[in-house]
Amino acid sequence: MKAAALSALENEMMVMGESVFKFEEEFAQYCGTKYAVSTASGTAALSITLQALGIGHGNEVITTPFSFIATANSVVHAGADPIFADVEDSGINLSPKKTRAKISPKTRAIMPVHLYGHPSRIDEFHDIADEAGVSLVEDACQAHGAEFEGNRVGSIGEAGCFSFYPAKNMTVGGDGGMITTNNEELADVARSIRDCGRDKNSKYYHGRIGFTSRLNTVNAAIGRIQLKRLEAWNHARRRLSQRYRKELENVRDIVLPPIDGSTEKAVYHLFVIRTKMRDQVKKRLADNGIETGIHYPRPIHLQTPYRQKYGYTEGAYPLSECLSNEVLSLPIFPTLTENEVVRVCEALKQSLAA
Ligand SMILES: Cc1ncc(COP(=O)(O)O)c(C=O)c1O
Repeated sequence: MKAAALSALENEMMVMGESVFKFEEEFAQYCGTKYAVSTASGTAALSITLQALGIGHGNEVITTPFSFIATANSVVHAGADPIFADVEDSGINLSPKKTRAKISPKTRAIMPVHLYGHPSRIDEFHDIADEAGVSLVEDACQAHGAEFEGNRVGSIGEAGCFSFYPAKNMTVGGDGGMITTNNEELADVARSIRDCGRDKNSKYYHGRIGFTSRLNTVNAAIGRIQLKRLEAWNHARRRLSQRYRKELENVRDIVLPPIDGSTEKAVYHLFVIRTKMRDQVKKRLADNGIETGIHYPRPIHLQTPYRQKYGYTEGAYPLSECLSNEVLSLPIFPTLTENEVVRVCEALKQSLAA
C-alpha cells in the first residue's frame, strides 16, 4: 500500500489520476457490474446515486431505521424523505413485507442495507420495486463481496453503494466510496455529479449542480491493493465466525447472527450477538481487556435530527428499538486468531453468569 501510494503521488495527477479509473474498472469487475463510479465516501455514493436517478424534493425512499445514520442522511442530502419500515420479525435487515406496506405514490426507491455483511432479501425487494415501478438501491457499505444467489451484492439492484471507511472489510486508507451499476446513463450522471456537475470531457461547462466528491488518486491506488486481498480477508472472517458459532452454539441467553441460507453468503463485517444482558456483558468483557462494540445503540428514527424533522418517538419501530438495546459486536478482523476467538468466548460465557 505504501509503495502504491508513493508511486501515485510521484507519477499521477492527485485528482482523477489513472489509479482512480483502474480502481473503478477493477471494482466493477469484482462486483460483476459494467460500471463503477468512485466517490469521496459511502454517504456520497448513496446520495449521488439517488440524485442521478432524479430523486429529490417531494420524493420518498423506503429504508431501515436499524443502520448507520448515513443510510438515511443520504436520502435527506438528496432532498427526499426517508420513510422507515421495521426489520424482519426475527432478523436484522429491512423487512420486505413491511417495506411493501410503506409504498406510496411518492415512493421513488427502496434502499435495503446488507447490515453487518448479511445480504438482505434482495430478490423480494427486486419484485416489490418492479411491481411499484421504483428503483432498488443497495446500501452495500458493510458488505463488500457478500453474495446473493451467486451474485455479488451491488450488482443486483439498479445500483449498489459501498464505503471504504477504514473499519470496513476493505479501505482506501481513508474515506472513500463506490457506486456500482449496469445502467450507463446512471453511471454517467453520477460521474458528473461527483465532479462539480461537469459535462463529459469538459472542464468548465456544467450541465448540472454537482459536488466536489471525488476519490483522491492516492486513495484509489491503496484501494487497488486492498481489493486484491479482499477475498482472503472475507474468507478469514467467515472462518472466524464459524468458530464463534461452534463455541457459542449452546450458550443460553444469547442469540447468534443469522446463518447463511442456501442463497446467501455473508462476509461478517461484524459478528453481532444479541443478549438481554448486553450492558453487563460488555462491561465484564471490557474488564477482561476485550473491546466490543454496539452497532447501533440508537435507531435512526430516534436520533435527534430525525425526531426533530419527522416527530418520531419511542415505539415507532419496536423491533429496531429492541435490537438497539440487545446487540453486541464481538471482535472480528482477518488477523484475529482462533485461539483469541476461544478466549473471547470463554470470557463471554463467564460474563453471562449472575
Ligand atoms: C450501512 C452504511 N451506510 C452508509 C455508510 C456511509 O459510509 P461513509 O462513512 O463512507 O460515508 C456506512 C458507513 O459508514 C454504513 O455502514
